[in-house]
Amino acid sequence: MNTSVPLHVVTGAFGYSGRYITRRLLAAGYRVRTLTNSPPRPGLFEHPIEVRPMTFDDPHRLTESLRGADVLYNTYWVRFEEAGVTFDQAIQNTLRLFEAARAAGVRRIVHISITNPSENSPLSYFRGKALVERALRESGLSWAILRPALLFGGDDILINNIAWCLRHLPVMAVFGDGLYRLQPVHVDDLARLAVELGQRDGSTLLHALGPETFTYRGLLQQLGEILDCPRPLIRVSPDTGAWFARLLGWFLDDVLLTRDEILGLMQGLLAVDNEPPTGRTRLTDWARQNVATLGLHYHGELSRRRIARR
Ligand SMILES: NC(=O)c1ccc[n+]([C@@H]2O[C@H](COP(=O)([O-])OP(=O)(O)OC[C@H]3O[C@@H](n4cnc5c(N)ncnc54)[C@H](OP(=O)(O)O)[C@@H]3O)[C@@H](O)[C@H]2O)c1
Repeated sequence: MNTSVPLHVVTGAFGYSGRYITRRLLAAGYRVRTLTNSPPRPGLFEHPIEVRPMTFDDPHRLTESLRGADVLYNTYWVRFEEAGVTFDQAIQNTLRLFEAARAAGVRRIVHISITNPSENSPLSYFRGKALVERALRESGLSWAILRPALLFGGDDILINNIAWCLRHLPVMAVFGDGLYRLQPVHVDDLARLAVELGQRDGSTLLHALGPETFTYRGLLQQLGEILDCPRPLIRVSPDTGAWFARLLGWFLDDVLLTRDEILGLMQGLLAVDNEPPTGRTRLTDWARQNVATLGLHYHGELSRRRIARR
């Protein structure tokens, strides 16, 4: 192994966005180590990467796993509370990761956040993201915060499962008026931005926003047309939507969409005013190119987490 080549550490290289960040780092010639509790997935990368466990309960070991790294790309977070992992724990774990990076002498952290985090948000996901952003800004480390809206591409979960619903359900539920906006960004655009930020110095906050802005209603209509499955849109309250999502989730053995996610969507938190798009791939172009596979199979969040815990 050529140790003169800079080492970059990525959390969750066998997961979703971490995989794309890792591919881009390897293509740029870096050595990559991942911190993950998921089992290795052979054949995922063109070059070998080092794998270390994500030991939040063992700070010394976590520090050693980060030693020698130039940049840490942090994708770690939880989408919802399950299997005893709460948002409060996710916050504490993230702070331990930042502290371990500082102790290990990591030069810079590129942290993947979310659009519109707020410490005053009633939504745990967005509030927790704001708290860890603040902790990173105050850590004394060199940092870059990347705030993506909804991600799509590859084996994404949310856009794929909207497409799955369009293919399989006779009608689609729209929460409220459906006129709130979202700016989905391709996962490889996020990875490109993350790697670019890793190569810079200085503190930076950047949004990862796709080139197209949709209303939720418009997104369902456009995807329905592309998939040749246009569906009547039925207006429902967020509570009814959450109940329906729970029922469908029960049949699918998954969490389809949480009430908090519905509320975040309805508050327009997946779009940002007055920020230029930084993503290049248009969701509608990508959906047309992938029409044969998009939404054909349901992508389960819980089944992925169960594999990770085996
Ligand atoms: N996906 C989106 O549409 C989206 C949109 C906006 C922002 N983001 C943000 O982008 C980042 C990456 O998202 P992603 O979709 O690429 O995530 P992911 O691949 O599913 O997971 C990223 C990392 O978090 C860990 N993780 C996820 N859920 C966990 C759980 N329940 N318990 C323990 N560890 C868990 C994974 O651990 P293992 O490696 O051990 O599996 C992995 O290291 C996150 O910070 C997310 O908030 C995502």
